[in-house]
Amino acid sequence: MPIILGLESSCDETAAALVSGDRTILAHRLAGQEAAHRPYGGVVPEIAARAHVEALIPLVQAALDDAGMTLADVDAVAATAGPGLIGGVMVGLVTGKALAHAAGKPLVAVNHLEGHALSPRLADPALRFPYLLLLVSGGHCQLLEVRGVGDYRRLATTIDDAAGEAFDKTAKLLGLGIPGGPRVEVLARDGDPRAVPLPRPLIGTAEPHFSFAGLKSAVMRAIDGGQWNDADIAASFQQAVVDCLVDRTARALAVADRPTALVVAGGVAANGAVRAALEDLARRHDLPFVAPPLWLCTDNAAMIGWAGCERFAAGLTDDLAFPARPRWPLDPAAEAVRGAGVKA
Ligand code: KG4
Ligand code: ZN
Repeated sequence: MPIILGLESSCDETAAALVSGDRTILAHRLAGQEAAHRPYGGVVPEIAARAHVEALIPLVQAALDDAGMTLADVDAVAATAGPGLIGGVMVGLVTGKALAHAAGKPLVAVNHLEGHALSPRLADPALRFPYLLLLVSGGHCQLLEVRGVGDYRRLATTIDDAAGEAFDKTAKLLGLGIPGGPRVEVLARDGDPRAVPLPRPLIGTAEPHFSFAGLKSAVMRAIDGGQWNDADIAASFQQAVVDCLVDRTARALAVADRPTALVVAGGVAANGAVRAALEDLARRHDLPFVAPPLWLCTDNAAMIGWAGCERFAAGLTDDLAFPARPRWPLDPAAEAVRGAGVKA
C-alpha cells in the first residue's frame, strides 16, 4: 500500500497528513490562522502566505513523528498546486517539491478541488464512480459528475459568489466575526427560518447554476431595516441557501448520467441543515447519500494525501517544474458562465 505525504496551504489552513492507500490516515496535523486574520474580518493573502512559511515544515515533522516514520517511508509527496491564494499555494507546492526532491520521491501536484471531490471516497470505501458531487466551499459552488480520478464534468457553477462566501458575508454583516459559516449556523438554531422574506436566486431555471449575490444584498437590506432579530435573519438566510442548493442539485440529478450516489463536499458541507436537506433529496431519488465527516469537509491535508494516493495509484505523478495555478478548473472543457470566475 502506498503511503503519501499530503500538504495543504491554499487558503488559511496549513496542514500535513500521512495517508495510506488502504484509507488509513496515519497522521494529520493542522494549524488554523484565525487569530492572525481576525482583526481584518477575513483572510489576508499576504498574512496567510507568511503563516504557511512558519507552520508547514514543523507540521510535516510532527506528522512524521506521530506516524513513527521518516520521509524514506513515504512513496510520494502530494501538494496542493492550486486553485487558491497564490502565495500560500506557492509555499506548499515548493515545500512539497523540495521534500520530494531531497527524498528522491515522486511529486503529485493536486488540484485542491480534486482533494474535496475525492474526499468522500476516503471516508466511504463503498463509494463508486460516477457520482454527482455538490462541491460547496468558500471559493466554489459547483455541481460535478465525478466519473473517475482526473475525470470531471461540470454541470453547473455559480455566476457570482460561492455559498460559503455568502455565509461569511452574512456573518460579517451580523457582526459574528470569523469563522463565519459555523457561527451563522449556531445563531440560526435560535431563529425562525420563515421569518424574513429572502430571495432564492435562479431557483427553477433549467440549467442548475447558482447565484448568491442577490441573497447577500437582501440580507444587507434586512439588517439595515432593523425589523428582524439577528437569529431570524441567520435562520432565514441559511434556509434560503439550503433551498437554492437543493433545487439546483435536484435539477442536476435530472440531467446527470446515472450517478451511483449523491455526494456533498467542501466547507459548507459541514453545515447540518445543508447535510440534512441533501440527505432528504437523495432519499427521494433513491440514491445513497455520502458526506465526509465534518473535519474532512473543511480544508485539511488528509484529502490532499488521499487524492495523492488515488493519482499515484493511477500512475499520475508530476514534474518538479509543475506550476502553481491560482485558477485551475476541474473540468477544462467547461464553458465560462456569465459572471462566473469573478472570485477565485
Ligand atoms: O473548503 P473550505 O474549508 O475552504 C475553501 O476551499 O473555500 O470552505 C470554507 C468555507 C467558508 O466559507 C466557511 O464559512 C464555510 O466553508 N463553512 C460553513 C460551515 N463550516 C464551514 N458554512 C456554513 N456552515 C458551516 N458549518
Ligand atoms: Zn477547500
